Order: sequence, then structure tokens, then C-alpha cells
Amino acid sequence: MSAAAERFARDGYLVVEGCFDPAAGASLLERAADIVADFAADMPARSVFTTDDQVRTSDAYFLDSGDRISCFFEEEAFADDGTLAVPIDRAINKIGHAQHDLDPVFDRFSRTDALADLADELGVGGHRLVQSMLIYKQPGIGGEVGAHTDHTFLWTEPASVVGFWFALEDATLDNGCLWALPGGHRRPVDRRFRRHPAGGTRMDTIGAPSETAAEVTRTFTPLEAPAGTLAVLDGKLPHYSAANRSQRRRAAYTLHAIDPTARYPDDNWLQRPTLPLRGFRDRR
Ligand code: FE2
Repeated sequence: MSAAAERFARDGYLVVEGCFDPAAGASLLERAADIVADFAADMPARSVFTTDDQVRTSDAYFLDSGDRISCFFEEEAFADDGTLAVPIDRAINKIGHAQHDLDPVFDRFSRTDALADLADELGVGGHRLVQSMLIYKQPGIGGEVGAHTDHTFLWTEPASVVGFWFALEDATLDNGCLWALPGGHRRPVDRRFRRHPAGGTRMDTIGAPSETAAEVTRTFTPLEAPAGTLAVLDGKLPHYSAANRSQRRRAAYTLHAIDPTARYPDDNWLQRPTLPLRGFRDRR
């Protein structure tokens, strides 16, 4: 096992600075700006994204986004009267969840030899890319993402999801960098987000949490990351990011990959009825 693989197994995450050319990240952001402009041209239903919602209202736009390219607003983008309080290009929280399969620029960024080799090194080279997100963390209003594990949202049996988090811009303490709980991937995952049989989604608690959220949050460590950094997160690793109250955007791109031999429940929120799963080397 390589030193990187040992660190990943021990800590539940691995941070690799200088892992990709920031110019490639910039071209991803250029393409994302085009997607947002197209979205703005015919503004469909508004959908606000927060993982803090214990029970999400039924939102077809969200639930149908697994095999599409959809734009979601920042919660604080709207004034009290429901109109946009900021320009559209500063109002979008994220783009998701299938641009890695549907858009050629995102496809190319998501499937490189370097990434495939790193996945091999960490023992997840056979995984398939189930989800992508371009997360803006907009200046001033970028929403926090509460402490969670990705396994909660992309449940497989056994647990297999691995997150790949690319810093497209510098992520610092000021603009809402990731925080992770070293070794936390060995704790039991006590929540599962799933589709509700009656419609919408719900967060189920599994077993009894052993510590309060406040106790756990004290031991998180910040993962400050200059543009070009890749952080790989075990799916059972608790992590969060704070709101961005600074004037610097903190754009990141994420990929989530699962073991195709693990069971993927049909009540997972993310379903991809029109798209086959492809791996790191399955380029178009
Ligand atoms: Fe996450």
C-alpha cells in the first residue's frame, strides 16, 4: 500500500495539492457560466438546496436531477418578496447532478488518466461516477453545508461511496473551506436520506447518535486548499463547510463514485433512469 493509500485509510481523507491544472478548473467554470446563462434564459422552478432540511418538501426539480444538468439557488439569493436579491451569476448555489455524463467539458475533466491512477492507488479504481456537482459557495451568501457523511445521501450496501472534491478556486477559512473529522469514517453512519414512499424525501435516523453534534464538531479540522487541490473523502467521513461571508467566491467541483457491485437502493434520492454508470476510464 502506498503512503497516500495508508493516509487515506487512516484518516478517511487525502488532500493532494497541485493535483490538477487550475487552468482546467477555469475552463470548467467557463462552461458552468454558460450553463447558468442558459438556465437564466428560461428560469424554471426555483429550487433551494440545503442539507440541513430534515424533511425536504417534495420537489420534482430536485428529485429528477440525477440524470440531468440542473441549477439550484442559494437560499439567501432571494429578497423577502421572492425576487432575486443578487445578479443571477451570483445567485446559483450549485449545478448538478449529471454534467459529468452529459456535458463534454465536464466529462473530460472528470475522466483523466491522473484521476483514474489515483483512484487505482486508493483501491477504488473500479468505482463508477454516480454524481457531479459544481458548487459555487457564492460571496456573502454562500450557504453552509451542515456536518454529514456522503454515505447518508448516496447509500450503498455495503457502503462504498467516495467523494472527489476539486478546489477550482482557493478555499480558505474565510470563504468556507471544507472541515473534516480525521478518522471519523470508522464511526457508524447514523442517518440516511431517502425518498419517501408518499412522495418527497426524508432523513431517517439509524440507531442512537453517540455524541451530540456540538461535541463532534469541536474536533473537526479545516482542509484549506489552494486552487488545483483535490481532496478525496471516504463516504463515511463526517465533513461540513461553513457559510461564505467573505467577498471571495469558493467554487469547487465534486464527483461521487460508487462500487458498481454494491447494492444501490431504489429509494436513494438520486436515481439515473436514463444514464448508465461509467467509470474513471470510460471516456466518450
Ligand atoms: Fe459531502
